[in-house]
Order: sequence, then structure tokens, then C-alpha cells
Amino acid sequence: MVPVRILLAGATGAIGRPLTTALTNAGHEVLTLSRTAGDIRADALDREALLRALRGRTADAVIHQLTALKQARRTVDANDPSTVLRIKGTANLIEAAQLLGAQRFLVQSLVLGYGYLDHGDRPLTETDPFGVKTGGPADPVVDGLVSAERQAFAVDGIALRYGVFFGPGTWFSRGRFPVPLRGGVVPWVHVRDAAAATVLALERGAAREAYNICMENPATWREMAGRHGLPLPGRLLRAAVPYLGAAMIDTSMRVSNAKARNELGWEPVAGASSPPR
Ligand SMILES: NC(=O)c1ccc[n+]([C@@H]2O[C@H](COP(=O)([O-])OP(=O)(O)OC[C@H]3O[C@@H](n4cnc5c(N)ncnc54)[C@H](OP(=O)(O)O)[C@@H]3O)[C@@H](O)[C@H]2O)c1
Repeated sequence: MVPVRILLAGATGAIGRPLTTALTNAGHEVLTLSRTAGDIRADALDREALLRALRGRTADAVIHQLTALKQARRTVDANDPSTVLRIKGTANLIEAAQLLGAQRFLVQSLVLGYGYLDHGDRPLTETDPFGVKTGGPADPVVDGLVSAERQAFAVDGIALRYGVFFGPGTWFSRGRFPVPLRGGVVPWVHVRDAAAATVLALERGAAREAYNICMENPATWREMAGRHGLPLPGRLLRAAVPYLGAAMIDTSMRVSNAKARNELGWEPVAGASSPPR
């Protein structure tokens, strides 16, 4: 693919930073967007302000990496900041892409969107149902992920279903956090590997497709948290943050990354040699 100009929304975040580097190293030009730093400073939830900030600019692609997980609340509802960014933020960024003349749109999604439940030992693929709800505390997150993907597909975009992030700038580098003593396994991805996959998806990904971007060997949160975890009995964790109970205890999943390997030529390498920190 010839070098392109990309508007990267969320460029200062855990994935945004290594992605800016990876895109630049691949020869692309990056216009960074966030509220506090970068080429374009705007609140993506303020449609008018966003479009005003972009007036007169052009780009070939828009990559949506906006989340607000640092502001996580005890209970997650439809007003949860990350859910709003996935629903309204995606709509605003798609309008922004149209204003910029961008032909490609990539959105951050999450493997947990397959459903916060025990999926057994069979590795899930992109053809498995996505957005399965359980009636539990994670349902609004699932709604947000499904909305972001559907909106992206409607404009021939691509969804990147990342595993749970680890590496610099992630939860693991931010001090101790609660993990259950016992819980299910989930797929993980180092942020540098996630960034590399995103560049490949930009360059080679097919319209209206989702790609699982994770390591194939899953692990429990406690195993991954290592010395940064604060192990708690499940009932205490659930009482403190019901969403974490759903994500860390109720959910167990293996996820295949064969599509990303075969169709994008992606190989997770940073995660293989780097423990969570
Ligand atoms: N798959 C995963 O496991 C996964 C996915 C995402 C995040 N995380 C984790 O969550 C942790 C907390 O991160 P976070 O969710 O707060 O994300 P983050 O890593 O800080 O990135 C969020 C990005 O979006 C920008 N942003 C947020 N709201 C915005 C808005 N309304 N308008 C424009 N830009 C906006 C932020 O910049 P400004 O604040 O400057 O605007 C930042 O660049 C991360 O360290 C990571 O470990 C994990």
C-alpha cells in the first residue's frame, strides 16, 4: 500500500502511542487527535467542535482508538464513557472521515464482545456470534462494541477485536488492581503487537471484516497480573465492581487469531518475549 495520511483518534492512549510509532515507521503520515495533545485537539463527543477542528484537513483513513477505561465506574450502564465513545464517538468519527475524504475506517473492538460467559475449549473465530448478551453487568459494554462494529461495517470499515492489552501504558503499568483468586482464561495482546496488526489491517484488511488480534494461549487475569495484581475472593471483587466479576470470573474464552495471521500476515512477537508490566 502506498503511504497514506491517517487521522488517529486516541493517539495518546495505551494503543495510540505505539500505533503512532508503527504507522510512522511504515511510512504513513499521522494526524493525532485527542482532547489534550496532538495535531488536533477536540472532544470527539462534541460533534460540532470535532468537525470544526478538522475543517480544511484531508486524510485517507481514520482509526478510532478512543476509550475512557481510566474513568471506569463501579457499575457500567449505557452512559459509561467508553460505551458512549463506542456509540456516539464512532458516529462522529465517521462523519469526520467523510469530511476528510477518508476511504478507510478502522475501529477498536474487543474479543470480550463474543460474550461475557464460559465459551469452553473451542477457539472462537470471527464467524462465531459476536455481541452475545447474558443479562449481566457487562451487557452495556457489549452494546457499545456491537454498535461500533456495525457502524464501521456500514461504511466498509474494519473492526479490530483486540485481546486484553498488556505492555507499556496499560493497566499493568499503572499500579495494583484487583484480580480474582480464581477465574476464567481470556486472550491477551501486547500493545506493540496490537499496533503492528492495526497497521497491517489498514494496509491489507478487507472491507466489513473483523479480525481477532490476540495471542492464542489465553491466561487468567491473576496469571497475567503477576506482581501488579491484588488477589481477592470472587465475591469481594463482584461486590466492589460487578463488571470485573463478569470479565474476570464469568468469562472464559479461547480465541483463534488464524484469520489475522493468514489474511494480514500478522505474527504476535512482542507478547511472546515480554511479561506484563
Ligand atoms: N483491549 C483492551 O484490553 C483495552 C482497550 C482499551 C484500553 N485498555 C486499557 O485501559 C486503560 C485505560 O485507558 P483509557 O481507556 O483511559 O484509554 P487510553 O489508553 O488513555 O486512551 C484513550 C485515548 O482516547 C483519547 N480520548 C478519550 N476520550 C476522548 C474524547 N472524548 N475525545 C477525544 N479523545 C479522547 C485519550 O486522550 P485524551 O484523554 O487526551 O483526550 C487517549 O488518547 C489502558 O491503559 C489500557 O490498559 C484496554
